[in-house]
Amino acid sequence: MKRKFKFSQVATPAGDAPVKGEAMGNLKIYEPGEILEENGVILEVGERTSDADITFDYRGKLAIPGLVDSHNHLPFAGERLDEFEMKLRGASYMEIAKAGGGIRSTVKATREASFEELFQQAKARAFWLLKNGTTSVEAKSGYGLNLEDEIKQLEVAKALDRAFPMDVVPVFLGGHDIPPDRDKDSYIHDLVEKIIPEVASSGLSSYFDAFCEEGVYSPSDVEKMFRAALEHGLKIRLHTDEFTHTGAIPMAVDMGAISVDHILFASDEDIEKLAASDTVGVLMPTVSFFLRMEKYAPGRKIIDMGGAVALGTDFNPGSSPAVSMFFPLWLLVFKMGLSMEEALTAATINSAFVLGLDGKVGSLEPGKKADFLVLNFKNYREIFYYFSEPRLIAVYKEGRKVISLPRKWEDT
Ligand code: NIG
Ligand code: FE
Repeated sequence: MKRKFKFSQVATPAGDAPVKGEAMGNLKIYEPGEILEENGVILEVGERTSDADITFDYRGKLAIPGLVDSHNHLPFAGERLDEFEMKLRGASYMEIAKAGGGIRSTVKATREASFEELFQQAKARAFWLLKNGTTSVEAKSGYGLNLEDEIKQLEVAKALDRAFPMDVVPVFLGGHDIPPDRDKDSYIHDLVEKIIPEVASSGLSSYFDAFCEEGVYSPSDVEKMFRAALEHGLKIRLHTDEFTHTGAIPMAVDMGAISVDHILFASDEDIEKLAASDTVGVLMPTVSFFLRMEKYAPGRKIIDMGGAVALGTDFNPGSSPAVSMFFPLWLLVFKMGLSMEEALTAATINSAFVLGLDGKVGSLEPGKKADFLVLNFKNYREIFYYFSEPRLIAVYKEGRKVISLPRKWEDT
């Protein structure tokens, strides 16, 4: 059955990803706009589309693509509210980590959790993401840090992809930290010789990710892991330069990384190299906000130099318990100097590219999934102007209305 949706405006990026440089500022605007859909797939988008069997009238409303969260640590156990209080009293993220908190405390909780417990927690969080307009999301492991518990997290991610109306992309973050019960070199040896090959052959993830930072892994540690990951057919991504300049960005770009994430302390040379490549810089401004840092990543510079950026919440219990993509979208514009169009491109098609989903989601174009948000605005610029409330009315995933506000409230 062909279904038509009518809006006052449809705003979407279009074309091939990653969208780089100036092109990040180009959105396609249809005013009025229509989406014609069949079996969850978009047939046509335009001011007028062909005849349909049924028409839904959203005139007076705006449609944009479902948001894509390209950096998210969804399957973990517990929370870290006590650390949050320490942070508010002035302790830094790295101080807390050194005092036995941080990633390692979530590793303990995640190892202790059963598959079922982990799945239920991840599913509850996925609901909050969906309710806030995220229709595709990454789900990193990285809180197991041994073969069995990394696999458990990845299986939770895979089960969630099947059970929940979201695209969930499992990413093997085997290099997230040094396991509490291991020394660094022996763990790297294990990763390279055993864990990376086994995860790769399990087919549970097609990505490997690591954390390069002072006190965690050095660029040369990461290079060893990356070599093994590439050898076993995995794509590579990297957390880097979150708190210090590590020098890892050129290495990651040279090795063909899909993305480098955080990158607050990237140097001008790093940015130049990144911008000239197809490696995407993933921006996560809620981390700066939550850790009360003055500094934000040089997203503006990356685009000005011709590069591509994407957006993630970095949803995790320590540095960004943020479920909504709207808050980081506002920060991109208000704190990082991106235009509204660039911010939307980052949060949709470029994020889809990072997750390997750009052929399927991230823009409203024929052949892609009918994943779209209905907002009580007439123009996409109002998303930023009326910051603090995205006025979401409905979330559609593959043509199905999965979130909806009570009708009575729609027009208030
Ligand atoms: O992306 N930087 C390392 N990893 C996460 C934080 C994880 C945690 O604190 O549990 C991040 O910020
Ligand atoms: Fe992260």
